[in-house]
This record gives sequence, C-alpha cells and structure tokens, in this order.
Amino acid sequence: MHSEEQETQAPKAPDRGDVMDKLVALCKRRGFIFQSSEIYGGLNSCWDYGPLGVDLKNNIKAAWWHSMTWMRDDIEGLDAAILMHPRVWEASGHVAGFTDPLVDCKLCKQRFRADQVGEARCPQKPSVAPGAPGCPGELTEARLFNLMFQTHIGPLEDDGARIYLRPETAQGIYVNFHNVLQPSRQKIPFGIAQIGKAFRNEISPGNFIFRSREFEQMEMQFFVKPETASEWFEYWKEARYNWYQRIGITPSRLRFHPHGPHELAHYARAAFDIEYRYPFGWRELEGIHNRGDFDLTQHQQASGKDLSYFDETTRERFVPYIIETSAGVDRTLLTCLVDAYEEQAERVVLHLSPKIAPITVAIFPLVKRDGMPEIAQRITAMLRPDFKVFYDESGSVGRRYRRQDEIGTPYAVTVDSETLTHASVTLRDRESMAQERVSIDGLPERLRALLA
Ligand code: GAP
Repeated sequence: MHSEEQETQAPKAPDRGDVMDKLVALCKRRGFIFQSSEIYGGLNSCWDYGPLGVDLKNNIKAAWWHSMTWMRDDIEGLDAAILMHPRVWEASGHVAGFTDPLVDCKLCKQRFRADQVGEARCPQKPSVAPGAPGCPGELTEARLFNLMFQTHIGPLEDDGARIYLRPETAQGIYVNFHNVLQPSRQKIPFGIAQIGKAFRNEISPGNFIFRSREFEQMEMQFFVKPETASEWFEYWKEARYNWYQRIGITPSRLRFHPHGPHELAHYARAAFDIEYRYPFGWRELEGIHNRGDFDLTQHQQASGKDLSYFDETTRERFVPYIIETSAGVDRTLLTCLVDAYEEQAERVVLHLSPKIAPITVAIFPLVKRDGMPEIAQRITAMLRPDFKVFYDESGSVGRRYRRQDEIGTPYAVTVDSETLTHASVTLRDRESMAQERVSIDGLPERLRALLA
C-alpha cells in the first residue's frame, strides 16, 4: 500500500510561481496559520491555525458537512475516536502494508522516499557538502517504513498495549456500519460522513500544509449494492468535482486523474483523484475510490461479527460495496487560499467565496467623530448574531479596505456623514470595489441575499 497520491509532475505555473512564499508570509502575518511550537524552533510539518485560519477551516468543514448531511437524507454523520482497537489496523491492511520505501544517505544520513529519488546518489544539495555539486553520498537499499504513529494505551509500554493514531478516518466508519444502520433505519444505498484528524509519519512532508503529519480528513463512505457500484462511483466523482466549484475554486485549475492498475491501493477496484493545479504542479486534492466489499469483508472476518446487509425487498443478504470520497481539510483550505490569491496594482486580494471567508462583513466609521463610531458599533452588534463581523476604526478608510481585501472579507459597511441624516450606509463589494447605499434596517436582508 502506498501512503497516498502519485505525483503528476507539471511545470510550475508561470503566473503563480512564487505564490507559495507570499501566501505563507501572509498566513503568518495576518493570523491564518503558524508553524507548530514556533518558539521552540517549530515542529516539522505540523501547523497551528490562528484566528482567521480557524474560522476559514470551520467554514470549509461546515460547507462539506452541510452538503453531505443537511442537504440529503441518505447520509448520516459520525464522529469516531482517533484511537481504535489495534486489530482494526491489522484487518484493514495498514499494519502490514501502509508503508513507503525508504533509502538513507550513507554520508549525510538524510532519509528519502525511494520512489522520489530515482538514482543511487544522495539528492541533497550543496548546503550539506559545501563546494560539491551535491552530497556525494551513496544511498542504502530501500526498506519499507510504516507510516502509522504508534503509542501505548494505559501505563504499560509493552507490545500488548501498542496502539496507533489513525492514519485515515474511514475505518471508524466501517466498524460502525451496523451501529449507524440500525438506529438511523437507512436502507442501501446510504452513506456515513465523518470529519476528523488523521496522522501519518510522512517521509517527505512539505509544501506548507499540503502534506503534513497531522491533518484533518472529510470522508464519506457510501454503501451500495455491488451491481450499482460503478454508477455510484460516477455519481460521486461528479458531485465532488462540482462541490469544489461551489466553494469558489477556479474550474480550469481542477481535473480528474484516473488511477492506472499500478497506482491502485490494495483495497480499490477503481480510483480517480480530483487534482488541482498548485504553483508546484498538479496534485491530488481528493480521492474517490470504489473499494468493493474489501473493508466490510476484512472486518467481518477479523472480528467474527456479521457486517452483511439484508435487503427486505429482494430478500437477499450481501456485503455492500463502498464508494469512498476522501478529502483533506487542510489541503482544501490551501487550495482555497492559493486559488484566491491575487496581487493587483493597488492591493493584494483573496477572492475567497463569501460562503467560506473567515470574516463576512467589516464595519467602519468613516471618521472617529460626529457619533459615527457609536452608530458603527450598533450596526456591529445588530449583525453579530448572524454574520461574522469585524469592527475597525483605525487608520484611513482606504487602508482599512485593503486590510480586509488581503484576508478575503467580501463586504465592508461604512458609516459616513449621510448615515447621520438618512440612516443609510455604504456597502462595498470586495471584487468590484463598487459601493451601494443601503438603509441600516435593510442591511441584514441585503447581506443575506448576497450570501444566498
Ligand atoms: N481513506 C482513503 C484515504 O485516506 P488518501 O488518498 O490516502 O486516501 C485522502 O487520503 C486525502 O487526505 C488526500 O486526497 C488528501 O487531501 C488528504 N491527505 C492525505 N495525506 C495527507 C497529508 N499527509 N497531509 C495533508 N493531507 C493529506
């Protein structure tokens, strides 16, 4: 089993080549994302979400949850524990096969993924061996390295107490198949959706939050009759592709990548990735898999518990096939940021969809006198229960607009002299920078209409 996606190489997008560095800086400066444990020098490939980052992340998760569970009656929600019985990971194939081939450099002791090196010499650059074209070290033979993090449950650190941090959320769904089926009274076809943390001891993490060792997944497992699996596979491919467009991702930067026979994970009968064109090339954003009856059969055999389904109409008993949609929360967030980032002559702007932007409305008094701050604060209090608002009275109004553009706030309300006589405000649109006049009373309704 290979840990994750195959990497499809593509030249760097010339228009967006240096976007990553700028985005990483913006994320730190404006409070989206910080390196974990930064004051201790940082913990490699782990990230902390700051005030704006956590709202953006929550909005992305809410959009997914809404589309999967609120908008349909054939998907149920679940939140399973991160720590599971160790036999789960034996049955799933992870203990034996969730590995990457590793090579070590005999000279500089760096470790690499064998499938990414492709030659017998160390790929390390001159910084390790000054003056040389690269580190001249020879590489060892490849060894398999399991990507699951291990820990011990309870006070005893012996092998019997060894457990794993889950490397995917999916297994929590499979082992709860009957637990969810019975109380929900669902009938096949139906799905179970879950959002939660997953952990992988990746050999080559990188590209900011694209590949990290602690991340979140949004996974949905759809249980179907075997003979309908191909149809549902096609259905979910399209549905998930469309969802990315609904949260604002540029369609021309999305594509499908079918897995060839050598790329398929051991559980998959068919798989497609939804790929995005990042500044560092086309890469997997989400995986859609036809997992057949592999997972339920494995857990049925290993646990001795019946995980089949009885169809009351046809009086048939069978092990359902599973169509899986598996997306990374952090990777979706990175995609939203990369896709939204633009430098214009006068401003840096994040074209985030208003549905996911961390702040929906900024509220400004034009000046700090004539009662304008008081009115602006009253408007802030009025909008606060329904919208994520941000009040700001510092600096020139132009500067305040720019600061909001840079973090993707779609709307800004300004209290000006006309407000004092006509009880109306300006409502500025981030995209066009155009302003319309709206009565204070009509503001909630106007904003709701814009966000619909
Ligand atoms: N249950 C199937 C599964 O986990 P996967 O292709 O290994 O499939 C699914 O992972 C998604 O999870 C990926 O498309 C990616 O969005 C996200 N993901 C996987 N490993 C990741 C990592 N190390 N860092 C961030 N996101 C990751």
